[in-house]
Amino acid sequence: MLDLFNDDIIKEDHKPKISEEELSDADVLIELKKIKEELKHKVVVLGHHYQQDDVINFADITGDSLQLAREAANLKDKPYIIFCGVHFMAETADMLTGPHQKVILPDLRAGCSMADMAKKSEIDKAWAFMKSATQEKIIPVTYINCAATLKAFVGDNEGSICTSSNAEKIIRWALAQGEKILFFPDQHLGRNTCFKMGIPLSDMVVYNPKMHNGGLTAEQIKKAKVILWYGFCSVHQGFTVDQVKTIKQTDPDMTVIVHPECNFEVTQASDDNGSTSYIIDKIAKAAAGAKFAVGTEINLVNRLANEYPNKTIVSLSPYQCLCTTMYRVRPRWLLASFRAIKDNNPINVITVPEDVARSSLKALDRMLAVN
Ligand code: 13P
Ligand code: SF4
Repeated sequence: MLDLFNDDIIKEDHKPKISEEELSDADVLIELKKIKEELKHKVVVLGHHYQQDDVINFADITGDSLQLAREAANLKDKPYIIFCGVHFMAETADMLTGPHQKVILPDLRAGCSMADMAKKSEIDKAWAFMKSATQEKIIPVTYINCAATLKAFVGDNEGSICTSSNAEKIIRWALAQGEKILFFPDQHLGRNTCFKMGIPLSDMVVYNPKMHNGGLTAEQIKKAKVILWYGFCSVHQGFTVDQVKTIKQTDPDMTVIVHPECNFEVTQASDDNGSTSYIIDKIAKAAAGAKFAVGTEINLVNRLANEYPNKTIVSLSPYQCLCTTMYRVRPRWLLASFRAIKDNNPINVITVPEDVARSSLKALDRMLAVN
């Protein structure tokens, strides 16, 4: 998968080395257990559902991106928040927590390739073109999977952030504020959600930042209701319609459920689609004996299969659909983060510049108010 980073924020990797010669994997887990207990009065660990089991086992709170953002905003008494997730999630947590708190990302290379598909300079260029093409009001909506600078852009332009669990509500809100929306960076979440809301595909266009004027004419911008950014998740885009057909042919009783970051054709061919929390909830509430082929990240699918042995839960894909950047957070880097806190010299602290945070918070607050 693509492996790019927002170089405007991540300059270098400060990950300290705890080598395997120094400590075996098993010893890392033993020390982690001890140090977590020792520092529990001042450290809380948040873990996204896509984290590997050896990391999630140390999380005090697990959740999807929306739940973790909400939890971070409510954690006032813990000076240190270790965020086992990806960079944009830790940035969001930093903006929602107080100045007395530090948010730590155990591996600074844990980025999100989709987030990197929209850069501030590209958005500025696209925005200028769109504004020159139409007098109608365009409301920018960004998926939370983006750099803080883009959240700030949205905050300053009357827009909102969304996550996969509230995209529909936020898009509905945005379309009540203006005539059109610019949705970035994930074209699939934007398209799938708008289509579900009854907006026909003919009212949507795709802006490709690699092409002159995004590959669009002013006329196309004028006509469109929804302008989708050409971004995608390499993990979810890996699921195919053929996989859905194969599963259905092999076992017609299987319910195919996918994340809306999967492409339109896969989403349409599947029985159901929804955010990470939606998928978890659907499986949890299903009767014993239910069968699911799930189109999302493999660590979550495997965990669900272990949690519900009385249900059949398999990955929709025969290949490993692993988010390799989430996977960069390893137990030994989590341990290094704890050790550094114990030494009063925290590492990998994620700090969003004040002006960026101020503008971003306008967009985050709009999301939290709408939701
Ligand atoms: P959620 O909003 O469902 O947690 O998804 C985040 C993500 O990165 C999915 O790929
Ligand atoms: Fe980003 Fe996709 Fe990984 Fe989610 S699964 S963090 S969208 S690369």
